[in-house]
Amino acid sequence: MPMSTRRAQPEDAETLHELASRTFALACPSSTAQADIDEFIVANLSRERFHEYLADPARTVLIAEADGVPVGYSMLVAGPIADPDVRAVVDETASVELSKFYLLADSHGSGAAGALMAATLAEAVTGGAKWCWLGVNQQNGRAARFYQKHGFALAGTKRFLVGNDWHDDHIRVRALP
Ligand SMILES: CC(C)(COP(=O)(O)OP(=O)(O)OC[C@H]1O[C@@H](n2cnc3c(N)ncnc32)[C@H](O)[C@@H]1OP(=O)(O)O)[C@@H](O)C(=O)NCCC(=O)NCCS
Repeated sequence: MPMSTRRAQPEDAETLHELASRTFALACPSSTAQADIDEFIVANLSRERFHEYLADPARTVLIAEADGVPVGYSMLVAGPIADPDVRAVVDETASVELSKFYLLADSHGSGAAGALMAATLAEAVTGGAKWCWLGVNQQNGRAARFYQKHGFALAGTKRFLVGNDWHDDHIRVRALP
């Protein structure tokens, strides 16, 4: 199936909200309460939040498409790092965060994620970053393997709030060319 990636535009906010609503839980441990997932989506992944993200010059949002149909998205965030656990292991003056990276379940293993990663890292390089970092749930074995394959090495741990529930993440970092 022809795979492509493109920069998201303001009119993609609804599409991104739909992708995010369908994929956020895939990255959470199966024990995560549905109420916490729903709360996170309302607070962070609504159409209005994506409108804000798309208007924010510090953020770059990409959409992956298979045969022209959206199947995933990524978001880079440049600028200061709020989390002290991340600041301890990442040079915030030379780094960009891979804040979101999600593919619909039926696209896993299709190659779409690899194409989206290549395009996302190319954007990170264009933005001038020397390092790219991310947080990923410690129980997310598939994402860990995927990120390892794409050069993201373990660098530390942090916590991540989903609704009322603190999750344990790994911090991963990779150098950019
Ligand atoms: C993480 C994600 C983007 C990876 O994309 P993908 O298409 O599934 O990735 P790939 O198939 O290229 O690679 C996954 C690897 O994990 C392996 N894998 C699958 N299930 C696994 C598991 N439970 N534990 C460990 N490895 C696993 C696969 O065999 C493959 O490794 P291989 O290429 O060496 O065989 C995608 O699965 C996804 O969107 N997941 C849900 C959202 C998510 O977790 N996002 C990350 C948020 S930080």
